[in-house]
Amino acid sequence: MVSPVTVMITGAAGQIGYALAPQVCRGAMLGPDTPIILHLLDIAPAETALKGVAMELVDAAYPLVKKIVATVNLEEACKGVDVAVMVGGFPRGPGMERKDVMAKNVAIYKGQASALQEHASPDVKVVVVANPANTNALILSNYAPKIPKENVTCLTRLDHNRALGQVSERTGVPVSDVKNCIIWGNHSSTQYPDVNHATAGGKSVRELVNDDEYLNGEFVTTVQQRGAAIIAARKFSSALSAASSVCDHVRDWVHGTPEGTWTSMGVISPGGDAGYGVEAGLMYSFPVTCAGGKWSIVQGLAIDDRSRSLMDATAAELKEEKTMAEELIAAM
Ligand code: NAI
Repeated sequence: MVSPVTVMITGAAGQIGYALAPQVCRGAMLGPDTPIILHLLDIAPAETALKGVAMELVDAAYPLVKKIVATVNLEEACKGVDVAVMVGGFPRGPGMERKDVMAKNVAIYKGQASALQEHASPDVKVVVVANPANTNALILSNYAPKIPKENVTCLTRLDHNRALGQVSERTGVPVSDVKNCIIWGNHSSTQYPDVNHATAGGKSVRELVNDDEYLNGEFVTTVQQRGAAIIAARKFSSALSAASSVCDHVRDWVHGTPEGTWTSMGVISPGGDAGYGVEAGLMYSFPVTCAGGKWSIVQGLAIDDRSRSLMDATAAELKEEKTMAEELIAAM
């Protein structure tokens, strides 16, 4: 019999939380045979809504769920956690500067880092979703030195899946046969969605689409701006697709990427050739394969000049965010 896995979702009373919890309970994250203990965390003003979500999860009577803890106590939520999905954060409100949002989130992620390293399982796997996702993850990693660096990641799987979806729409090849797109860099509009190594139905996407102007232009901006397009259409940000991508991210990390396929994950850059020249210590999205519960950056892909400059531009933004976060922490 498989032992239960404890999954924590922070920001569980929010939109993504509401879409994610049922998917986790149905086995979309850890498979149909893994029992789940679910820890849901939110903050005191959202406590009643959080209890409501927990009530619905009880009412859904999921066979995989062994226990649900819904709490506004950070330490209680982090206790014994094997997979931590960090969705909670401070949203950017009207008139707020990027620096103001960063200040709020850096403080949250510094505090949650300490609670996680003290109370979670020593081998906890962390995926940060809340924006600025890469920098929140970096702060979490820096302030939880007992958690192995490779165990802290951020979500760029949604962007990766968006890229697969756009290629599928353009070529008519079912999305299950589109492989090996890459999201390089930041989960922001500077990210670089790259199809130079991607295939659809076993053929090179560049050759199949045969329209470099589209692939270097509209395709890139569509993926970069997809979040904003969804907010414009739905009046709320993408929750269903974000939740589904979180499950994909953790499932592939734990159970491995399919043979011949890679995905994209925000991970700590090792620097040098292994990190495609991206400065060591930046939380940067790379193409990765996963096996045995560990990710590895896909090595040796040819990078053309255009790609190089786009990869450098998104790295420069991450470096700027890192510096801003460090300055904010120093002033705290
Ligand atoms: P939401 O505003 O509906 O929910 C956020 C929840 O976090 C709220 O319930 C809030 O009370 C809670 N929260 C705030 N501070 C907290 C704290 N210190 N501890 C625990 N919970 C806390 O937002 P939504 O739509 O669910 O999005 C959540 C985050 O995910 C946002 O930062 C959003 O920008 C980001 N996002 C990231 C994506 C990615 O691909 N990386 C995709 C879509 C959204």
